[in-house]
Amino acid sequence: MSKRLYIETVGCQMNMLDSELVVASLRKDGYELVATPAEADAILFNTCSVRQHAEDKIYSALGRLKHAKRQNPNKIIGVLGCMAQKDQKLIFERAPYVDLVVGPGQLHQVPALLSEIAAGSGPRMEVSLERTAGSREEVERSFESYDPLRDEQMRSSPYQAFVRIMIGCDKFCTYCIVPSVRGPEQSRPPEHIETEVRKLAAEGCREITLLGQTVNSYRYVTAGRTTRMSDLLARLHDVDGIERIKFVTNFPKDMTDDLLQAVRDLPKCSHYLHVPAQSGSNRMLRRMKRGYTIEEYREMHARVRQTIPDAAVTSDFIVGFCGEAEEDHQASVELLRESRFKNSFVFKYSPRPGTKAHDLYADDVPEETKRRRNNELLDLQTEISEEDNQQLLGRTVRVLVEGPSKASRKQANRERADREQANHDHDSHDHNKEPHLLQLTGRTNCDRIVVFNGQPRLIGRFLPITIYDTTAFTLFGEVVTEHVGPEVYSLT
Ligand code: 5AD
Ligand code: SF4
Repeated sequence: MSKRLYIETVGCQMNMLDSELVVASLRKDGYELVATPAEADAILFNTCSVRQHAEDKIYSALGRLKHAKRQNPNKIIGVLGCMAQKDQKLIFERAPYVDLVVGPGQLHQVPALLSEIAAGSGPRMEVSLERTAGSREEVERSFESYDPLRDEQMRSSPYQAFVRIMIGCDKFCTYCIVPSVRGPEQSRPPEHIETEVRKLAAEGCREITLLGQTVNSYRYVTAGRTTRMSDLLARLHDVDGIERIKFVTNFPKDMTDDLLQAVRDLPKCSHYLHVPAQSGSNRMLRRMKRGYTIEEYREMHARVRQTIPDAAVTSDFIVGFCGEAEEDHQASVELLRESRFKNSFVFKYSPRPGTKAHDLYADDVPEETKRRRNNELLDLQTEISEEDNQQLLGRTVRVLVEGPSKASRKQANRERADREQANHDHDSHDHNKEPHLLQLTGRTNCDRIVVFNGQPRLIGRFLPITIYDTTAFTLFGEVVTEHVGPEVYSLT
């Protein structure tokens, strides 16, 4: 059987990492990636359940495959990830031609399941236990952290990698489906994480992003010894070759002083901290069961600024949560205004069956109001980002060069198509053109995106870039050509 694989991923960075690892294990099984479902023998969707919209997209993508499956019944169609865990058999009911449903705690089984299906086993489903379906230990065991050895070729960049340090979540915010679909919070042993990071460094990886739903709650206890997030950072900081360490997502209440001091004192730690507030209103925070008041959030933010004055803090907000009155929304506007986040991700509340909010409260804010509040927060954030980025004009920042910018990738695709056409017309005159300057992108230590022109060979290097123009979301700069000592960098 030929083994061509197409995979589509939606959702968070955890899902991107899961897909990378599934693809890596399938490549070992002889699969090769293809760019469209039409060419594929196996089509996988790695799914998200955080909002209804993400699920709708997958169900309509499945709908579009109905015909293809009828034409070629040997095509294997699989649904992986959070929606697989949440909807389980419902997926087979809504799309009876699906062959495979695998939850995020069972991804290690995907290669074997695909072989069984190809050999004629019929549809297969592997999901983890629901949170109330057994003892804590039993439920924990049914969610396996999926971290097989890494495949360098499967990362979007050889110089950057995600590293999972924990799975699951125990916070149970009332709006959120994650604790039920990703299971109990479990931290990975620090030695496993370190081994993985050493392997990545040996492959040339320069930047790692540690992943966890509440990454700063990381805590591993063994033989009476506790490793906190700050201890883990110190340990990974010692790995030669790794030059930058980021971590997402932080939970406001777990932003401890030892962690902030570690970020301040360990030079490889990025000064970028994503610490979602979700709302500026105590009434809403209580309903969301976030476990902190807005005064406590402010106090936490002040401590961040005090310890790491140049830190770039970003936030998430949910607008239109159940019962959100105009004054609650104004409290969020106020928080966003005074916090001067580097960026805010704003989401319209989407009720999720299986969550407390869905069972207890009516989704009573009209869509139109949600949209208006969403735009209000986004517009204000854009204004703030624009103003704050302007302060970087003329400054020199240290950038890890990630690759060609979107614009130059598009241009390269156009040129490739032209070349193919020219070859086709037996006219290959510009075949051996010198590689010209590309528009490149990279990120600063505070996760700001920088666009500049440079040779492709700069990709994967840390470079000083002087900023000459800014927008709310992007800095534009020039490579600094003469030697610049690190003391003149601003760390932004
Ligand atoms: N509706 C809208 N947004 C949500 N988020 C989580 N659950 C929901 C929901 N039911 C948002 C939160 C979280 C981000 C990843 O998604 O802001 O921080
Ligand atoms: Fe969801 Fe809250 Fe856990 Fe974040 S901390 S994953 S919002 S339950």
